[in-house]
Amino acid sequence: MAVELSTTFTGLRFPNPFLLSSAPPTESESNILRAFEAGWGGVVTKTIGLHPVVNVVGPKTKFLRADAESAALSMKKRPGAALHSSWNWELISDKTLDWWLPRLGRIKRAFPKHMLVASIMAGSGNDTELRHWQTLATACQNEGCDALELNLSCPHMDRPDMGSNVGKDQALVSIVTKVVKEVATIPVWAKLTPSTTDIVVEARGALLGGADAIVSSNTFTSLPLIDAETLEFEIHVDGRVSTGGLGGPAILPLSLAKMSQLTQAFPDGSFSGIGGISTFDHALNYFLLGCGTVQVCTAAMLDHAIGPHIIRALNDGLARFLERHADRGWTQLQDFVGLRRDRVVSQSQIRRPDVKDYRGGYDAEGYAEPAAP
Ligand SMILES: Cc1cc2nc3c(=O)[nH]c(=O)nc-3n(C[C@H](O)[C@H](O)[C@H](O)COP(=O)(O)O)c2cc1C
Repeated sequence: MAVELSTTFTGLRFPNPFLLSSAPPTESESNILRAFEAGWGGVVTKTIGLHPVVNVVGPKTKFLRADAESAALSMKKRPGAALHSSWNWELISDKTLDWWLPRLGRIKRAFPKHMLVASIMAGSGNDTELRHWQTLATACQNEGCDALELNLSCPHMDRPDMGSNVGKDQALVSIVTKVVKEVATIPVWAKLTPSTTDIVVEARGALLGGADAIVSSNTFTSLPLIDAETLEFEIHVDGRVSTGGLGGPAILPLSLAKMSQLTQAFPDGSFSGIGGISTFDHALNYFLLGCGTVQVCTAAMLDHAIGPHIIRALNDGLARFLERHADRGWTQLQDFVGLRRDRVVSQSQIRRPDVKDYRGGYDAEGYAEPAAP
């Protein structure tokens, strides 16, 4: 039976379910064109905004590596070390909307069958700021973008009405999504921050605002490590650092936990999974939990800037996986999406030794009766 790599997500037909996420791999026209040539099914542009952006002096991203023979964890490059994570404090695109618009149109015309998603961000403190979201949305969709991704998740914005500061506020998430939906003629995805107590709360806000999909995770709020010799942060400017975002292998299990919460809370929803993906086996986790697409950043940055080998391995991995499971009648992604979603349960629902019983710690004196299963 022929296997089918293409898939439909939020009403859009993707050549395959693998996207480059909004980040350096999608910061320019040439990168995005190379990415489509290499086989990515879609790209989410580096986030486009209307406010001025100036990045820090020096490196904006570094990679933390672990040693096999010691517990050392460091950003220092050394032979034999394995990637642990990326750390970045890069702001959104420093290119203007006017710079982006003709490029978006050209990219879409060059690759009409590949999905071009515009990531956008504005403030949300007043009506004028909220209208900026609409300006960005209409401009990008007029150039032929297939979907919009709302950046409600950048972890290093000072403004309380931008990035993950919006993503931590259910009401603001809802308002921003609704404002964009008022003008959008294409699907709107909400990219939420994982740095919140219960991501289901903010996802509900986005869905109430009309979001067509939830995207998770952006990077996790974090600090670089301090070098024990120099007593300086491994990445700093004049000895100073601010919180930034952790991505890459270290966040795969963290991001899966967030995704599991989301897909269980909204079993009929559409989800795009991000965090620590570099192989099909990693992506498979997100699919089995209920994601219809996945996105990649760190691994692509380390593979010729746009991940030509990564996307080849992802597509090959999906094709081989479908071939291996042909006997189950699986021919496409939809045949196995969400298959392990309901295997994540509360602790007390996990089997105990036969002679013992455990009621989630509820049956001691002074505690409530356990809820009926
Ligand atoms: C250097 C860098 C810049 C990023 N810039 C953006 C951005 O502009 N907008 C956005 O939504 N996410 C941004 N991200 C987050 C990524 O899109 C992605 O959500 C995150 O890195 C987790 O995926 P990964 O584990 O594959 O790296 C950035 C990540 C990195 C490392």
